[in-house]
Amino acid sequence: MTPPSPHIQVLPSPAEVARAAADRIVAAANEAVALSGSFSIALSGGSTPKALYELLASDAYRDRIPWADTEIFFGDERCVPPDHKDSNYRMAREALLSKVPIPATSVHRMKGEIEPAAAAREYQQTLLDRFGVGPGIDLVLLGMGDDGHTASIFPHTPAVTESAATVLGYFAENSSTGKSWRITLTAPFINRSREVLFLICGGSKAARLQEVLEGPQDPHRLPTQLIKPVSGKLIFVIDAAAAGMDSD
Ligand code: 6PG
Repeated sequence: MTPPSPHIQVLPSPAEVARAAADRIVAAANEAVALSGSFSIALSGGSTPKALYELLASDAYRDRIPWADTEIFFGDERCVPPDHKDSNYRMAREALLSKVPIPATSVHRMKGEIEPAAAAREYQQTLLDRFGVGPGIDLVLLGMGDDGHTASIFPHTPAVTESAATVLGYFAENSSTGKSWRITLTAPFINRSREVLFLICGGSKAARLQEVLEGPQDPHRLPTQLIKPVSGKLIFVIDAAAAGMDSD
């Protein structure tokens, strides 16, 4: 079965990207809870989603998400303690999780502070216990690096070809933070999601994003091309700069 083609939304600014993403998450959360009684979301790291997390924690959005029925997962993590400046968990905690009424037991952190392979095995078990072998997370947030990576699936690494594990812990020679041990959801697991929502902003990503969306398949060089939900939605919300539109 051919995976659905991506839905691409281009907005003038990162602020409007964050707002569109927040609106999408509100809708997806309430749809999921109405359908199944729960909503699962995997948060992405990096800098782009910070504005989205702050918006979701704001008066305008906080009460529109059923936090009591929401479960938080992570798409990837740097192998650092949870209070480290590079921790994706720390960024999400400070921008969102510490500001909304989500039960602590509903936040499933990747343990960056322990041995990567052990952390990956533990997270893989968490996902198996929660999702079994069927459909995965309701909504996975992802970003894309200038090099075309997504989550912590970096070009020309074992993460690109990993097909058995749902979570991988490995050493990335050229990560977004230099040489770095990482934990990441693998593409096959991400592709089991009901919805994948990419947030991509900034002119530095325009050329790579065009290659990803319009160029030949080259997933070793462009791991973002691996993300093709088997039956879920694939949505890109990008700003004008990332779409290669000249700023006025
Ligand atoms: C990470 C992220 C990573 C991120 C991209 C884009 O841990 O680095 O999960 O995949 O989404 O690098 O990062 P920016 O949003 O900072 O450009």
